[in-house]
Amino acid sequence: MKRLKLILIFLVLSLQSFFLAAQNLKTSPEIENRIESLIQQMTLDEKIGQLHQVSGVSDLFQQQAREGKIGSFLNVRGATATNELQRIAVEESRLKIPLIFGLDVIHGYRTIFPIPLGEAASWDPELVERTSAMAAKEAAASGIHWTFAPMVDIARDPRWGRIAEGSGEDPYLGSILAAAKVRGFQGKNLSDPLTIVACPKHYVAYGGAQAGRDYHAVDISINTLREIYLPPFKAAIDAGAGTMMSAFNELNGIPASANPFTLTQILRNEWGFRGFVVSDWNSIGELLNHGIAATPAEAGTKALLAGVDMDMMGFVYSSNLAALVQQGAIDEKVIDQAVRRILRIKLQLGLFDRPYVDLQLEQSTILSNENLALALESARKSIVLLKNDKQLLPLNKSIKSLVVIGPLADNKSDPLGCWRCEGNDADVVTILEGIKSKIPSERIRYFKGCEIQGGSDKEILKAVEIAQKVDTAILVVGESEDMSGEAASRSSLDLPGHQEKLVKAIYETGTPTIVVLMNGRPLTIPWIAEKIPAILETWQLGMQCGNAIADVLFGDYNPGGKLPVTFPRTVGQVPIFYNHKNTGRPPSEEKFTSKYLDVPVTPLFPFGYGLSYTKFKFSDLKVAVEKADNITQIFASVEVQNIGDRAGDEVVQLYVQDVVASMTRPVKELKRFQRITLQPNEKKKLEFQLNANELGFYNQSMAYMVEPGVFKIWIGNSSVEGLEENLEIMD
Ligand code: NOJ
Repeated sequence: MKRLKLILIFLVLSLQSFFLAAQNLKTSPEIENRIESLIQQMTLDEKIGQLHQVSGVSDLFQQQAREGKIGSFLNVRGATATNELQRIAVEESRLKIPLIFGLDVIHGYRTIFPIPLGEAASWDPELVERTSAMAAKEAAASGIHWTFAPMVDIARDPRWGRIAEGSGEDPYLGSILAAAKVRGFQGKNLSDPLTIVACPKHYVAYGGAQAGRDYHAVDISINTLREIYLPPFKAAIDAGAGTMMSAFNELNGIPASANPFTLTQILRNEWGFRGFVVSDWNSIGELLNHGIAATPAEAGTKALLAGVDMDMMGFVYSSNLAALVQQGAIDEKVIDQAVRRILRIKLQLGLFDRPYVDLQLEQSTILSNENLALALESARKSIVLLKNDKQLLPLNKSIKSLVVIGPLADNKSDPLGCWRCEGNDADVVTILEGIKSKIPSERIRYFKGCEIQGGSDKEILKAVEIAQKVDTAILVVGESEDMSGEAASRSSLDLPGHQEKLVKAIYETGTPTIVVLMNGRPLTIPWIAEKIPAILETWQLGMQCGNAIADVLFGDYNPGGKLPVTFPRTVGQVPIFYNHKNTGRPPSEEKFTSKYLDVPVTPLFPFGYGLSYTKFKFSDLKVAVEKADNITQIFASVEVQNIGDRAGDEVVQLYVQDVVASMTRPVKELKRFQRITLQPNEKKKLEFQLNANELGFYNQSMAYMVEPGVFKIWIGNSSVEGLEENLEIMD
C-alpha cells in the first residue's frame, strides 16, 4: 500500500513536470499548421539544411543559405552582419525560412557581468534573472536569437576549468540559478524581440570528467546522475528552456551526443521536452574518436536516432543524411521530427514575421548606464569575504598611504573572464582605478611585483621596498582569464607563478596586508588563509570589477556573497564537496577512519561560507510537519538578527539529512536558501516550506522515494554552521 502510494506520488509529479515543460514552450494550432505545411513543401536537402549549423560567414555558407541548406549560424553577431545573412535566407531562398543565430552569451553580451561561478556566489536568483535578461536584451538587439547558456553542469572538481562557467557544486543551488537564467534569457514570451532562447548545456554530466581533465570520460552511478547532475537540466526545462546542447563527454560508455537514454528516455519521455537538441561543436564527428562509430555516416545515424536534432559544425548531417535516407537506413520521418522541433522554435521566436533587427535599437541598448549599474550591483553581490581578522577591513578613507601590488591590480583584460563575448577591455574598471576613485591618488602607490606566470626576485624586492613605507598593502593575485573555461584544466590549484612568493615577501614586511583573489576556480591557498589577516574572493567580476572591489575595500558596500563551491586545502583532497557520504568509518582521532595522514579531511573554506562586516545571530529554529490530503509539508522557521553596527546581507541556508534510509544518503543537502538584508539590530523571522517529496531519492530499483523516518534539519550561515533539529516523516 505504502509503495503504491509513493509510486503514485512519483507518477503525478512526473506527469506534472511533463505538462509543465510542454506548456512553457507555447505552441498553437497555427504554429503547428505552419510547420506541417512547410515540411510538405521541403525537399530532403532543405530539411537536412535546417539541421545544419555553421560558424562564421563565408561565400560558400552564403550560397548554401541561399539554397536553403543551412538552418543556423553561430558566432555571427551585430545587427548589420546578421541582417545581411538573414536577408539572403528570407528573400533569396526558395521557402524563405529564417536563420536562427546562436552565440555563447554566457555572462553578458557587451556589458560583462561576473563569470557564472562568481555570480552564483551572490546566491541571488532574482539578480541572476535580471543580468540574464540584460544580456539577452543586448544580444537580441545585435541580431542574436539564441544563447548557448546557461551552463548548468555541476562541478565537483576544481581542476576542471569549466567550473568557472557554471554555478558550482550543488544541485539545488544549481537548479534555482538555472531556472532563473532561463527566465531571464527567455522572458515571458519568446516572441518578445528583446528575448533570446536558452540552451542549457552540456547535457549531461560533463562536469564529472575523470581527473578534472576537460572532455574526459565520465563514469558515474545512475543515482549520482539523477540526483546530482540531472536536476539543474530538469529545472531549466521546467522553466521553459527551448533548446538543449548535448555534451562532448561519454557517460558510462555511451557518448552524450549519441545517448538515447539521456536524450530520449529522460529528456523527452520523462520530462516532456519539446524543444530541439543541438550537438556541441563537432561532438557528432567526435563519435569516431570515442570509438562508437566507424564512419561519419554511422556517427550521424547514432546521434540523430539518439535525439540530436542539429549538428553544430560537424558537417556530419549535411554530408551523410541524404544518402542514409535514400539507402533506407534512416526513415525520413526521423528527419521531419527534428525539422519540426527546429521550426517550432523559429516560429515561437517570431522570426518568420520579424526576421531583422533594428540598427538603432542596437546602438541604444548596448552598454547603457542602466546596464553598467546592473554590472556593478552583480559584481558587488558576488564578492565573498573569506577572512577579516581584527576587522582590518573595511579601510578608513582617511588612510595616509597604501600600495596596490600584483599582476591583476591594474589589469583590464582578466577581470572579463572566459567567454567575454563582445566585452571590451577598454570598458573594464581595474582595481587600481576603483581605489583611485575612493582616496586621493597621492596616497596610493602601485607596483606590479610579478607577472601572473613569471617575474623575478628583483621585482619582488622592489615591491617589498614600497610596502615597507606604507600603512597598508593590497595584493591582487590569481589566475588569468585563459586559465579557466574550456580546455583549461589545471593539475595544480596553487596561485600560478611567483605570486605566492610575492604575497609572502610583502607579509614579511609587517605592513598590514590584504589579499584580493581574482580567479575562475577554487584555489589552494592554505598559507595565505593562515597568515594573511584579510582575504576577499572576487572571481572575475566583469566590467565593474574595480568599482565593486573598491566599494568593498572602503566599506561603501558590505560583502555578503557565499561560496558556491568548496575550497580544498590541497589538490590531493579533490574531489571534495559538502554533500558527501558519511562512510562506515567517519573521520575521527582513531587511526582506522576515513582520512589522510598529511592533511585534515575538512576543506580550507566550506560550501556556503562567507563573512560580512557585521555579525548575524541565528535563534529560535522551529520545525513542524503537517499532513493534509496525503501531502506532507515541512515548515521551518528561524530568527536572524543583525547584531553588528552596520547594515549587511546574510544568506540563510537550510540543509537536511535523511538519517537512516534504504540507501546511504549525503551528510547534508541544501534544500532552501534566502539572501536577506538587515539593518543594525534588525531581526527577521524567516519561514521556509518544503514538500516532503523533496526529501526523496532514487532507490535500488531506480524509483524516486521518500522513506518515512527521522531527518535532521539545519538552518545556518554555511554548510558547516547552523541550528539543528530533528523532524519525522510518517508513513
Ligand atoms: C564548445 C563549447 O563546449 C560550448 O560550450 C560552446 O557553446 C560551443 N563550443 C560553441 O561555441
